[in-house]
Amino acid sequence: MTFQADGYAAVDWASGYLDRLRDLPVLARVAPGELSARLPASPPEESEPFANVLRDLDELIVPALTNWQHPRFFAYFAVTASEPGVLAELLCAAMNQVALNWRASPASTELELRTVDWVRQLLGLPDGWHGHIEDTASTSTLAALIAARHVTGRNVVVCSEHAHSSVEKDARMLGMELRKIPVDDELSMRVDVPLDDVAVVVATVGTTSFASVDPVRALAERAHAAGAWLHVDAAYAGSAWICEEERWSQDGVELADSLVVNPHKWLLVPVDCSLLWTSRPDEFRQAFSLVPEYLRTPEDAYALSEYGPALGRRFRSLKLWTVLRCFGAEGLRAIHREHIRLADLFAGWVDDHPDWELAAPQRFSLVVFRRNGTDEENEAILERANASGDIFLSHTKLNGRYVLRLAIGNARTAEADVRRAWEVLNR
Ligand SMILES: Cc1ncc(COP(=O)(O)O)c(C=O)c1O
Repeated sequence: MTFQADGYAAVDWASGYLDRLRDLPVLARVAPGELSARLPASPPEESEPFANVLRDLDELIVPALTNWQHPRFFAYFAVTASEPGVLAELLCAAMNQVALNWRASPASTELELRTVDWVRQLLGLPDGWHGHIEDTASTSTLAALIAARHVTGRNVVVCSEHAHSSVEKDARMLGMELRKIPVDDELSMRVDVPLDDVAVVVATVGTTSFASVDPVRALAERAHAAGAWLHVDAAYAGSAWICEEERWSQDGVELADSLVVNPHKWLLVPVDCSLLWTSRPDEFRQAFSLVPEYLRTPEDAYALSEYGPALGRRFRSLKLWTVLRCFGAEGLRAIHREHIRLADLFAGWVDDHPDWELAAPQRFSLVVFRRNGTDEENEAILERANASGDIFLSHTKLNGRYVLRLAIGNARTAEADVRRAWEVLNR
């Protein structure tokens, strides 16, 4: 195996895959177990050339891919692994930094602090916040709940009924009690709830189902008056604050004790990359800091492992740094504005058509809608549209009714792709 020749072949494969995405079905067309049946049940005894792996990508793996990089992927929150981000992942693996502490990787530690601070500035967040990178928002929120419990000595988590399921899962893993609060007509969390014994209020900016926005300022003020921690989950929508005109949804976030935003959702960074800031870094660190003898070093330097669950930390800042440099803030803003424009365009078609209706207020790059008719009819439309291979959308339920979601978040998505989605759905 020669690293260089195999490396060129791997990059050729990746580039060819990205070029032919439009010819592939968006949603995988395999049945459960189909790939498993084609994979050898036992591991290889003899070594094989790397070329065999590339061959099997085409023969085995691609047919079983749901193509998240496809321009007509509109399900969940659509995401983009941009080309600079993809290449940075390769370089990251080549250097294989395990940033246990500063000494174990000065580069990873210091680049992470700097790039996360760059994003803080780009999103218009307060000076002085401490930020680091976790794998996912599920872990970032887990860390925030741990810090909140440590600081308050309390055990109750409060969030909206539409908060992401990771809040409930995190609370369950920590043995904390969860209280879900109903929403108002705008699908925003109500604020008139008693918080006396509460450790943490989780406010969401851009809920998963509807991209609705909780009243962060009012929640922060009430939480703080009651001695509780305020965590903001802006995993999806927080990236939009790179555009001034989307900062209406940031009102009150400056009061947060912690905040999560995922560049792997809407900032062109390949999964995984979740940013977690805190305005209370000393207390946050106390909740996690545990330095065993073998990791003690003479220098007085940062160990980002003292701010979260993991000890060995990936060099994730490399891809964030690369993406920020290769697109620039202007490039990222242009992509956000285009996605929001396309979502508005689609929402307009829905709104103007007598057979369709918007099911939730229009926010960011997500459209929630349904066709006039029964839940079963809407589900059948979605299943047939997804089976066409042309588009992939997902669904949710609002007040018990089945509704469809079209999420725009792929940098390759053009107006023609959104038009195609509308045609397919109407067909
Ligand atoms: C608002 C919100 N929070 C949290 C998450 C969980 O994100 P992750 O997959 O990074 O854990 C999601 C996922 O879509 C989300 O939409």
